Amino acid sequence: MLPLGWLWYGSLLPDEYDMAQMGHADWGGGPRGVHAAMAGGHHGTAVSELIADPERTPDVRETLTVRDDGRQITVNGSTPGPTIRAHQGDLVEVTLVNDNLDDGTTLHWHGVDVPNAVDGVAGVTQDAVMPGEEHVYRFVAEDAGSYWYHSHQVSHEQVQRGLLGALVVEPTEDGESTDVDETFLIHRYGGSGSLNGVEGFSEVDAEPGDTVRLRLVNTDNGLATVWLPGATFRVLAVDGTDVNQPGELTDTAIPLPAGGRVDIGFTVPDDGVRVEFSGGPSLGIAAGPADARTSPPDEVLDLLTYGEPEPAPFDVEHPDRRFEYAIDRKPGFLDGRPGMWWTVNGGIFPDVPMYMVSEGDVVVFEITNDSGDAHPMHLHGHHALVLSRDGVPATGSPWWVDSLEVAVGERYEVAVLADNPGVWMDHCHNLPHAAEGLVAHLMYDGVSSSYVVGGEHGNHPE
Ligand code: C2O
Ligand code: CU
Repeated sequence: MLPLGWLWYGSLLPDEYDMAQMGHADWGGGPRGVHAAMAGGHHGTAVSELIADPERTPDVRETLTVRDDGRQITVNGSTPGPTIRAHQGDLVEVTLVNDNLDDGTTLHWHGVDVPNAVDGVAGVTQDAVMPGEEHVYRFVAEDAGSYWYHSHQVSHEQVQRGLLGALVVEPTEDGESTDVDETFLIHRYGGSGSLNGVEGFSEVDAEPGDTVRLRLVNTDNGLATVWLPGATFRVLAVDGTDVNQPGELTDTAIPLPAGGRVDIGFTVPDDGVRVEFSGGPSLGIAAGPADARTSPPDEVLDLLTYGEPEPAPFDVEHPDRRFEYAIDRKPGFLDGRPGMWWTVNGGIFPDVPMYMVSEGDVVVFEITNDSGDAHPMHLHGHHALVLSRDGVPATGSPWWVDSLEVAVGERYEVAVLADNPGVWMDHCHNLPHAAEGLVAHLMYDGVSSSYVVGGEHGNHPE
């Protein structure tokens, strides 16, 4: 039995530390490579070198200026900030300007498999951008779909207060064109839920007969539920990836994890369509507000069986590594603070695994949750293919996620192709949970970090 004082002292985080040296290397049963950071010094490829072609001229250029107006954090004067629109294959260049955020700030491109150096995680892939400073992000928008951007510096505060916006990547050749294509961010700024910052009822301009694509982005900390009373619709895409042959749905609730996106498609009937959201807001498409809100249907969409299967693009039967990401909770100290803290594989942060991979590996994660609370798990820089839930194999369309709701007692197996070298966060997107230590990292062997958490920039990604 260790004396309590020792446990407290042992939990204190240094004033600055290299994230890549935290935790313990977990090679997932595969061959051990060189853990550059732990080998000491900065050999191997530095995170800061993992960038898009610096010679290429940008196709889309934006400047995003963030400002704390005392009440909210705005991006170019509003929250949500502007929707950035690009076409697949475009080089996107965004300049972040910090007007007056004293803690500093960053931009993370949620769901976009960007080069590691522009992942926007303070202390891991860059230093926080201080007031009066700017920072340039450059990446190729390789995959069409619905994404979003948000701060990854003191993110549990800055995101909740409004430092966020949408990113839409349109396919190069659109198959059938849609009459109406609108994006809505679901967020709680204070009390009730809002759509693009508007509480209560919002309206979409459309005519009966129009085809509609709604891109719904849950920027909130909890699971959102979406339903369309009486209407027939399809779920066209999940977390930016198209569903293969999505079937028609009616009276079915759509669960949308924190950080996740769904694109919903339908043709507007004569009496319009209404969309309702947990937390209060609703949307009318060629339809007025509902006289009364309905409750969500009992039937809940299950992406494990929705749509039609297709072969996986890599060999999921013979993974190179298998990792466990077991979430639980136990009493202890987090950075000297006593409490009941989240654990990963039994340890309180930073006593958590550093999942080590080599480029080209196929890895399977088994995620379990015995913590008594749900966790929307988000891996940066990669998409994961859901293989099974509670031992039941996925039989629908390939279900690709970057934000996966893991309910209490659930067990998911997901497969990831390690094709994007770097140091990548793998954390809960209920952002206060991440600040409470529900964070681990996926790290490529031979990569070394270029930044420290804490330090003179006060980098605090969570
Ligand atoms: Cu949406 Cu680590 O973030
Ligand atoms: Cu959580």
